[in-house]
Amino acid sequence: MLQLEDLTFAYGSVKAVNNVSLEVTEGTIHGLIGPNGAGKSTCIDLVSGRQRPTSGSVRFRGRDVTRMTAPRRRHLGIARSFQRISVYPELTVADQLDVAAGLLKEPDVDAVVRALDLEGCLRHTPAEIGYGEQRRVDIALALIGSPALVLLDEPAAGLSREESIALADHLAELVRDRGTTVVLVEHHLEVVYRVCDRLTVLEQGAVIADGDPQDVRRDARVMEAYLGRSAA
Ligand SMILES: Nc1ncnc2c1ncn2[C@@H]1O[C@H](COP(=O)(O)OP(=O)(O)OP(=O)(O)O)[C@@H](O)[C@H]1O
Ligand SMILES: [Mg+2]
Repeated sequence: MLQLEDLTFAYGSVKAVNNVSLEVTEGTIHGLIGPNGAGKSTCIDLVSGRQRPTSGSVRFRGRDVTRMTAPRRRHLGIARSFQRISVYPELTVADQLDVAAGLLKEPDVDAVVRALDLEGCLRHTPAEIGYGEQRRVDIALALIGSPALVLLDEPAAGLSREESIALADHLAELVRDRGTTVVLVEHHLEVVYRVCDRLTVLEQGAVIADGDPQDVRRDARVMEAYLGRSAA
C-alpha cells in the first residue's frame, strides 16, 4: 500500500532520513521504531506531505505522491497524528472535530467519537479534559473520513505504561474493525511487540532492521541501538 524508495531528507547538514526504503502492507500495523533523533517523525512528515524529500519517492497505492501537498494526500487517504498534541486550545472538542470533518468528503464524526469514547468531552476545551482524552482527540482527528492509511507519531506519548498498553489495544481493535492500515511510532517496545505485525527500525536516519517483530527483536544491531534504554 505504501512504498518508500531511497528517501533522503536533510536539515542542513543533518541527514534526518538517509536512503530509506520500506514497504507497508495493506491491513497491517507497521511499527516504526528507533532511538531519539533516528528520523521517525521526519519519515512521517515525508509520507504525510509536511516535508518533501531531497531525493527518493513515496508511492501510495501505486501512485507517486512524493510532491503532492498534505491536504491532497489527506483526501487520497493518508492521515496522521502529531507527536506533540496539536489540538486547538480555544476550540471545544466538538468544534475541532467539525473543522476536520468540514474538510473531508465523508466525515464519520459520530462513529469516531464513539470509537474513541469521546462523548463525555465534546463540549469541553482541551484544557478542561484529561491528558489521555487529549491524546484520543488527536487520534480522532486523524481517523475522521476513514483514511486508508493512518500515521500515528507516538500516540501514547506522556501516558503511563498501563495507559499506553490500553490505548494500543484499543487502537489495534479499532483499526482492524475499520480495515485501516497503520504506521505506528511508539517508544514502549512492549506495546510495539504486542500490536505490530511488522517492524522497521531506524537509526541515524537509516533502516537497520525490517521484518517480523520477533526476528527484529533478536537482531544484534537492534539490541545495540537500544542498549542503555529502558526498553526490551
Ligand atoms: N526542525 C528541525 N530542524 C533541524 N533539525 C531537525 C529538525 N527536526 C528534526 N531534526 C533533526 O533530524 C533528525 C531526526 O529527527 P526526528 O524528529 O525525525 O527523529 P525521531 O526519530 O522522531 O526522534 P524522537 O524519538 O525524539 O521523536 C535529528 O537529528 C533531529 O535533531
Ligand atoms: Mg519523533
